[in-house]
Amino acid sequence: MAKILVTGGTGYIGSHTTVELQKAGHEVVIIDNLSNSNIHVLDGIERISGVRPEFVEGDVTDLATLRKLFETHPGIDGIINFAASKAVGESVEQPLKYYRNNLVSLLNLLDLMPEYGVKGIVFSSSCTVYGEPDVNPIDETAPIKPATSPYGNTKQISEEIITDTIHAGAPFKSILLRYFNPVGAHPSAEIGELPNGVPNNLIPYLTQTAAGIRKQLTVFGDDYNTPDGSCIRDFIDVVDLAKAHVIAMGRMLDNPESPKLEVFNLGTGRGLSVLELIASFERSTGVKVPYVIGQRREGDIEKIWADPAKANNVLGWKAEASIDDTMRNAWRWQQKLAGKV
Ligand code: WQD
Repeated sequence: MAKILVTGGTGYIGSHTTVELQKAGHEVVIIDNLSNSNIHVLDGIERISGVRPEFVEGDVTDLATLRKLFETHPGIDGIINFAASKAVGESVEQPLKYYRNNLVSLLNLLDLMPEYGVKGIVFSSSCTVYGEPDVNPIDETAPIKPATSPYGNTKQISEEIITDTIHAGAPFKSILLRYFNPVGAHPSAEIGELPNGVPNNLIPYLTQTAAGIRKQLTVFGDDYNTPDGSCIRDFIDVVDLAKAHVIAMGRMLDNPESPKLEVFNLGTGRGLSVLELIASFERSTGVKVPYVIGQRREGDIEKIWADPAKANNVLGWKAEASIDDTMRNAWRWQQKLAGKV
């Protein structure tokens, strides 16, 4: 088995991926500056897997911190890079924070990988690089469109940095994973999404509304060119998403024939509207979600969902969770946060 560095490993997708890496027998070292998570996530990971990952509190944008980590944790075989700022709206207000944090952290990792013999890096990318698709479902050959936010631009630039570095002959491999909309929580309710302040994303706002923390959910527009007028997304269960990372890492480290650079869309292949998601939550939990129809949110894409055939066929990975199960897990996590479970 391998030793994997998970940057941003106390975050939402990072923590779920750490659990799946440990279940697969890997040793995990986490580095996180706790700017958008908290140290108690390690307790949740340990309660699920029985193993407390090595943890370094630090900032990946600081080269000296990162070098010290590689010195004190020798033998790291692979990296999964989650550490990044990820709020679309905040990135418009604070672009320099996003360019510095998301790009300098990646540059530092790529700089040190050859020196410490790291064989592969999985990069956490996003379907946001596609912008508004011309056709759906969307596969990896779809054109990359001009980013609609500095956040999205950092994902595009990061992919280009990795591509150019690999093409220049770097002695390591990379797999770019373009996520659609990660949702849900671990079925144990020991880890889940921990939004800071008022949630931007749909599911945490929805579950907080169901819990009475928020008065009502606003559906940002029902006048789109979709069957029920609300936007369509590809909501992918966070545990399914985490499992794809373990497979991708194994492919890079264990398959000498695999290409030096690969890109995969990680989605279910199922487009669901915002109103359909609300209906799924209410059906699966029995809890009503008070909502109103509001104005469209600037920058929102009308509809996007994945063609996951490449990940299905090449990685042998397929999203398995039903949306109702995912909504039930999201609700259990929200109740746990409120101390009700
Ligand atoms: C989903 C749908 C909203 C909140 C973004 C990033 C993406 C990734 C995931 C980081 C949209 C609607 C939302 C609400 C609503 N980010 N909505 N009321 O914008 O698809 O994707 O988050 O990794 O890169 O682009 O996700 O959850 O914000 O919105 O009606 O209170 O829900 O209009 O149609 P989005 P989202």
